[in-house]
Amino acid sequence: MALPRPIVLGNWKMNGLRADSLALAGRLAERAARLTGTLGLYPPATILSQVAARVHGSGFLVGGQDCHHEESGAYTGSLSAAMLADAGARSVLVGHSERRHGLGEDDALVRRKAEAALAAGLGVVVCIGETEEEYLAGKRLDVLRRQIAGSLPDKVDAARLVVAYEPVWAIGTGRTPSSDDIATTHAELRSMMADRYAAGADVALLYGGSVKPDNAAEIMARTDVDGALVGGASLDADSFWSIYTAGGGA
Ligand code: PGA
Repeated sequence: MALPRPIVLGNWKMNGLRADSLALAGRLAERAARLTGTLGLYPPATILSQVAARVHGSGFLVGGQDCHHEESGAYTGSLSAAMLADAGARSVLVGHSERRHGLGEDDALVRRKAEAALAAGLGVVVCIGETEEEYLAGKRLDVLRRQIAGSLPDKVDAARLVVAYEPVWAIGTGRTPSSDDIATTHAELRSMMADRYAAGADVALLYGGSVKPDNAAEIMARTDVDGALVGGASLDADSFWSIYTAGGGA
């Protein structure tokens, strides 16, 4: 079943110890007795099972921030998709720019991770986006086309795939493309997805990169923007909830 819109996902990154994180999850769960859209929390893996238990019954999606591409084996420090599912995850982020650019993950590896997530029964959020250099050189669409061709699995049920467009230069910087530029990019992405899969036009497309309560409504009002992937502002219950309601969620 497709996720109800708006889809607002909070990527906590490497932030939060147990007490504060569970308090944050609890504050959100209290507000969201019956979600009309989709709210997702992507906590550090160490507290994933506790966050999942804390929001159990509230309809929140809880997910991992990354997974290994193999099912099991001698990969010290890594977590498989099945382990995340076992801890209570229903979804996983792959291909975040902090892993692509910070840790050298390429399209082929991101695709294998996405396939591993699907094989473990998880939904997958594949992050794509151009660097500032690529943006300034006018290569935005070429980069997105390449990432869509290379980092998405060939076979996927559209309801289990989310694509998050996150310009690398907008992440954590307070800078965003104009909402017109985001709308143009998302319309292009919609048609790229329709070319890639039979039901590709139904795949949810999120915008990410410095989404805050004061720009969320304008960004999420655009036709092909189905929601947002939120970093910094997802660490505060009021901000995260405001972003969700600005996108039409209740
Ligand atoms: P930001 O991060 O909202 O802090 O810019 C977004 C992301 O990395 O997903």
